[in-house]
Amino acid sequence: MCGIVAYIGSKQCQQLLLEGLKRLEYRGYDSAGMAVLDGSKITLARAVGKVSNLEDKLEETGGMRGTLGLAHTRWATHGGVTEANAHPHTDDRVGIALIHNGIIENYASLKTYLEEKGHVFKSQTDTEVLAMLIGELYEGDLEKAVQAALREVTGAYSIAVICEKEPDTLVVARKGSPLMLGIGNGEFIVGSDPSAIIAHTTQAVPLEDYTVAKVTRSGFRTSDIHDVPVTPKVMQLEMDLEQIELGSFGHFMQKEIFEQPKALRNTMRGRLDTREGRVVLGGVSKFDKELTKTRRVTLTGQGTALHAAMIGEYLLEDLAKIPAVAEYASEFRYRNPIVEDNTVVIAVSQSGETADTLAALREAKERGALAMGVVNVVGSSIARETDAGVYLRVGPEIGVASTKAFVGQVAVLSMLTIYLGRKRYLSADQCADLMREMELIPEKMERILESDARIRKVTERYIDRENWLFLGRGYNYPTALEGALKLKEISYIHAEGMPAAEMKHGPIALINDGMPAVFIANRGRQYDKVMSNIQEVKARGGRIIAVATEGDEQIKRLADEVLFVPDIAEPLSPMLTVVPLQLMAYHAAVLRGHDVDKPRNLAKSVTVE
Ligand code: AGP
Ligand code: GLU
Repeated sequence: MCGIVAYIGSKQCQQLLLEGLKRLEYRGYDSAGMAVLDGSKITLARAVGKVSNLEDKLEETGGMRGTLGLAHTRWATHGGVTEANAHPHTDDRVGIALIHNGIIENYASLKTYLEEKGHVFKSQTDTEVLAMLIGELYEGDLEKAVQAALREVTGAYSIAVICEKEPDTLVVARKGSPLMLGIGNGEFIVGSDPSAIIAHTTQAVPLEDYTVAKVTRSGFRTSDIHDVPVTPKVMQLEMDLEQIELGSFGHFMQKEIFEQPKALRNTMRGRLDTREGRVVLGGVSKFDKELTKTRRVTLTGQGTALHAAMIGEYLLEDLAKIPAVAEYASEFRYRNPIVEDNTVVIAVSQSGETADTLAALREAKERGALAMGVVNVVGSSIARETDAGVYLRVGPEIGVASTKAFVGQVAVLSMLTIYLGRKRYLSADQCADLMREMELIPEKMERILESDARIRKVTERYIDRENWLFLGRGYNYPTALEGALKLKEISYIHAEGMPAAEMKHGPIALINDGMPAVFIANRGRQYDKVMSNIQEVKARGGRIIAVATEGDEQIKRLADEVLFVPDIAEPLSPMLTVVPLQLMAYHAAVLRGHDVDKPRNLAKSVTVE
């Protein structure tokens, strides 16, 4: 959600800032703006809607000159989507311009204080309050004024600030909302994530909470909000531009669905020792002893990540015989959870920045749990705050609707299960068998992707239906939830996922003539039960779209549509059965004319509560 780009160096920065904003569009936003300081004058431009509207406005007004600037995409929290509420926001005294991701929770009391001091506000945002506060506290040193203001603030923020009185200073700061300082050659590029920086440098400092960085053309210093120096940790960004460019695909989501076989090979590479029958996970080996004693696992996340976590729950109990539970992070963090000895908490997150998941992880650590991360973005907040973890290695995921990250999360959780199971109940042969099955998944996925045109045809037949059901059992109950979420979030069709048996306890009342019911009916322990559920829906006029195992003749007689997937061991089947559901959602969104990669109201990473 929302995005920050800032630059200080020797180049004219308008175009560079615009390109940075375009790299961040995938995060979701509703308006955009830019401020550039040329000499002692800040020029401002803001526009509602797409970054291209800002670009048009810059063209109309002749553009901006300057080698120090800020640019922002806003995801509104306080104040409507208007030009006046778009960032950057300024103060009314010393020439401050500021952009902000996050929420200033105590903005109302600060606004009252500032109005009593005579400041006049022009917007409804919480952000403008912070800009005014910095202006109010400014006494000739921007870094000090920012530190002083942040000591008064509660909430989440990543900010970039400039001041007309200091043409060689950019101040950035972070608490709870990600921000990275890219170190170029005689220049610095600040971005909300690596995609805004990678075109200029691969050296970056991910800012920690409460860190303030003062950046000039000759260097930078980092401190906390009390001006206590902080040692910056420089990291090597592993992303390359090709990974964040569309190539020949129509949308990033489509590219990422078709990348899944390659992504999965990367996830598994070097981690499956089938000869020894053991999984090799460098990021957790340091805690091998603690993990051997694991008595309980709590998995937590939101959205798609939670669905992967739910599959992890089934895997850990079924194969490693470890009691496990998957919980909404937003619930776990406020529920006063019981964390016993030898409990491991696994935070699952593509971005590694989801506020609720980060907070749940912190809560679990507070209560003594061993904290693990299953995360995609290297160096993200969750990755940095866990004791141990496993990176997905699926590459940057740009489409708001998560696809390859989901499959990567399930693959990592499958490997973690084998790793832990090997310490208890799984023999080397059983582990080797499961690993060999995992190694076959990418090519089986490729076979499913070859039926993309057929899946599009099937989707087209039901594109006008406004309510769908997704039903599955066992390992594929969470897959049904994931299929429903995919369809909802990009085609805006209402869809509900549930355990297939649950349908009889109410939702079956929804079934009317022609209502699509997507059943995940691959070969498994509850196949016959799923067949009965299909009969129950069919008897009431529902249209049956079944995801089934290649060669299944019985399902053909029952279902109106059958989307086949290759046979696979049931515990690993979600990595295959989800692929037709992803493709159906993608085609539904395209056929309904929606913005697949930037669905309305959505953000790629929800860094606010
Ligand atoms: C999934 O398609 C959605 N974009 C959303 O539910 C997402 O999975 C959720 O916000 C969690 O994000 P994370 O994996 O980055 O933590
Ligand atoms: N809370 C600020 C606003 O509503 C910033 C929102 C964002 O993170 O883009 O303007």
